Amino acid sequence: MSPAVPTAIDKPPIKRAPAKGRRVTKLAYAFVAGVALAGAGCHESDIDPMMRQEKWKAYWSTSLFADGRAMRLPPEHTVPREHVLDAATSPPVTAALLERGRNRFDIHCAVCHGYAGDGDSVVASKMSLRAPPTFHSEKLRTYTAAQLFEVETQGYGYMPTYAAEVSVADRWAIAHYVKALQLAQHATIEDVPAAERGSLDKPAAKPEGEHEHSEKKE
Ligand code: HEC
Repeated sequence: MSPAVPTAIDKPPIKRAPAKGRRVTKLAYAFVAGVALAGAGCHESDIDPMMRQEKWKAYWSTSLFADGRAMRLPPEHTVPREHVLDAATSPPVTAALLERGRNRFDIHCAVCHGYAGDGDSVVASKMSLRAPPTFHSEKLRTYTAAQLFEVETQGYGYMPTYAAEVSVADRWAIAHYVKALQLAQHATIEDVPAAERGSLDKPAAKPEGEHEHSEKKE
């Protein structure tokens, strides 16, 4: 199918108010232009025609393409060159990978599954169809990182795929972080290296950047 042939160039639908910074730049521009070209009958658009040229911005519509979008989709079967192609192989599990996993999990998954992966979130409390489950159930604790990766990639039931938002490498990082979250809730003393066991009774050191929230007590 050939793309629709345009009959006329679309006019951008709405002119948005310029951002503050741009307004300042524009004023400076107008002043300089005014001084330099005083009396010459020049207009701002004569000096910066590119600003005013016909164009489409992200999310604008156009009749130029059959699908009506100004933003183009990448051709089928192409991938950005930064993307990892070997999706089936987990990267080695390192502290840095788990840290990355935590960061991405907190952004993409915690809104629904809760920061501890226990399904305790505002979204979950308001979802009437099927609430995001806890990861600490018998069933989900048997999932391998590869199965978690699969859920992120394919989606599951009411949960959509996160393949577009989360890269392959980050999906693996999240999967391993979920395994770590599960272990955190079901660990025994045997899971702690003998040398570390003595430190368990000490209060946990606060991670950097975390502050105690002072709650108002009535
Ligand atoms: C918009 C809310 C939402 C977000 C965000 C979300 N999920 Fe889910 N998730 C759900 C819901 C709802 C279900 C249950 C779906 C069902 O049973 O139909 C689910 C189910 C799951 C399951 C269980 C699948 C199974 O086989 O039982 C896993 C694992 C999971 N999500 C992992 C994740 C991970 C990892 C992320 C972050 C990349 C994530 N989810 C982000 C809502 C969400």
